Amino acid sequence: KNIVILISGRGSNMEALIAARDAGNLPVNIAAVISNRPDALGLETAAKAGIATHYIDHKAFAGREAFDAALAECIDGFSPDLVVLAGFMRILSEGFVRHYEGRLMNIHPSLLPSFPGLHTHQRALEEGVRIHGCTVHFVTPTLDHGPVIIQAAVPVLDGDSEASLAARILVQEHKIYPQAVRWFAEDKLTLDKGRVRLAAEL
Ligand code: GRF
Repeated sequence: KNIVILISGRGSNMEALIAARDAGNLPVNIAAVISNRPDALGLETAAKAGIATHYIDHKAFAGREAFDAALAECIDGFSPDLVVLAGFMRILSEGFVRHYEGRLMNIHPSLLPSFPGLHTHQRALEEGVRIHGCTVHFVTPTLDHGPVIIQAAVPVLDGDSEASLAARILVQEHKIYPQAVRWFAEDKLTLDKGRVRLAAEL
């Protein structure tokens, strides 16, 4: 399966996917890594791994739709079976999401539907929750609210800072994202009335 990964920054989830592929645990071809930020550190990491990289500077476009159209054109040049949002910090237009629906995944640093949106670890600490985590989901036009594929939970410990909590969750992100992409690559994910069904071991 051909995948294209979209990033905006460090790209640690992208690195985890590259590492899973290199370890022979992820039967995919990472056709390209694309960023909306020319200075995204992950572009360098991807290039060093021999993966095609592109950036499309969202500031160069009049509106969201124009940027999304240019982004989709760049993505489609790689004929992806799956588009993976990994630390991609742009809200995507409905047209873009519809174009990739069913083959567009995102990872969100909370146990959705709790804490959609930004600053999830700070909000979790402020709310005093005892369990927090991360979610991989299919992307739908409703922000951070698509069918859940896999989640991981971590305890919130006394004295946790936003940084210590984020670091504990990032370890889990790097486990669940390769797992979600592997299930997709192995055709084990089906959508049934808006819910993800994991094909039983055939
Ligand atoms: C991570 O917390 C991820 O959950 C969120 O963006 C943050 C950075 O991701 N989507 P990455 O290190 O750029 O993959």
